[in-house]
Amino acid sequence: MLKGKHIILGISGGIAAYKSVYLLRLLIKAGAEVQVIITPNGKEFITPVTLSSLSGKPVISEFFTANTGEWHSHVDLGLWADAMIIAPATASTIGKMVSGVADNMLITTYLSSKSKVFVAPAMDLDMWKHPSTQRNIETLKADGVSIIEPGAGELASHLVGKGRMEEPENIVKVLDDYFSQTEDLKGKKVLITAGPTYENIDPVRFIGNYSSGKMGFAIAEECANRGAEVTLVCGPVSIKTENPNINRVDVVSAKEMCNNCVNLFADTDIAILSAAVADYAPATCSESKIKREKTDSMTIELVKNPDIAATLGKMKSDSQMLVGFALETDNEKENAIRKINNKNLDWIVLNSLKDKEAGFQKDTNKITMLSRIGQEIPFDAKLKTEVAKDIIDTIIGK
Ligand code: PMT
Repeated sequence: MLKGKHIILGISGGIAAYKSVYLLRLLIKAGAEVQVIITPNGKEFITPVTLSSLSGKPVISEFFTANTGEWHSHVDLGLWADAMIIAPATASTIGKMVSGVADNMLITTYLSSKSKVFVAPAMDLDMWKHPSTQRNIETLKADGVSIIEPGAGELASHLVGKGRMEEPENIVKVLDDYFSQTEDLKGKKVLITAGPTYENIDPVRFIGNYSSGKMGFAIAEECANRGAEVTLVCGPVSIKTENPNINRVDVVSAKEMCNNCVNLFADTDIAILSAAVADYAPATCSESKIKREKTDSMTIELVKNPDIAATLGKMKSDSQMLVGFALETDNEKENAIRKINNKNLDWIVLNSLKDKEAGFQKDTNKITMLSRIGQEIPFDAKLKTEVAKDIIDTIIGK
């Protein structure tokens, strides 16, 4: 899977840098095109001449080539790469990635990178265990970076513990798995709903909910990364899409979301409905701001919104797959199964507000997937980016 892939190999200053030479050799052997970026400290451990001989490309370390004044564009490099692997990543480089300290070519390229980033940390065991390092690792994960955990064994300091950079063969396998995974939705058209809907009461007020869109956006990114043509119909959210292959349609109300989904559904292979759609909307929307009255109460008449999932469920053909979500607070499984039947879903992703890791706005979710034919698959609490992988793997039977 690595053949022809553009890989940036970032090397920072640790003794494990000697392993990066072998990693580079393996990547080249697998057919990848590799651009090495090494930090100034990295050069103290291995020479650019060794690396450029293996990669067939000049090694980049500084912002400028001193004698010619040629400027190295971190932005172009960030766009060029299909994946970036930083191996070894020292505690210092990890800290700079977390806080965006762009004082060398490697970090500026990381900040400009549009591709998936992998980090293979290597450091002494106490540095690895330090709360600061662990905090930084968690932040990188939340930023979508994949951490290739260090192994345990005798370290350069002769201390024994966790901190050894993962072996190059295993790092290549991680990259290979990543690229093989990206192809498995190629040719599929996926429709995803995300975020809340806002049902206007007057020009300044609405009925809405707390959905941030994080869950649906994670699913959209995962599908696009795996080669699908994705249309993401989303309510008002403040997050951005990363993958340029996501066609984003912004809507406000449930009716708008429904109209877009109905128009798109005939040309869809898989629809995944993660949006928190308002079930009711005000019967009328006042054209001017409703004034505070002397009366102690007021009534807003609400009318039922269309049920998007049920509408698509009625339109669904045998070749299409419809996946809904169920956000529950009680009788979770029973309610989810009822929704599968009422809405003619193939799968439902159940998440419960009783789980502290699940729900609106969180970076994590804890789900159980239930199918029309009675399968029940529980998952541990994970980052929503990882939950998205589990959902896709499950529905395509991986
Ligand atoms: O956006 P985040 O902050 O990351 O939060 C994620 C989430 C909690 C919103 C998400 O994980 C989730 O559970 N989404 C579904 C929330 C919901 O509205 O569930 P529900 O049980 O009310 O609806 C069942 C299904 O019918 C859902 O697929 C929903 O999109 C769909 N529905 C509901 C009402 C309606 N009028 N039309 C619909 O299509």
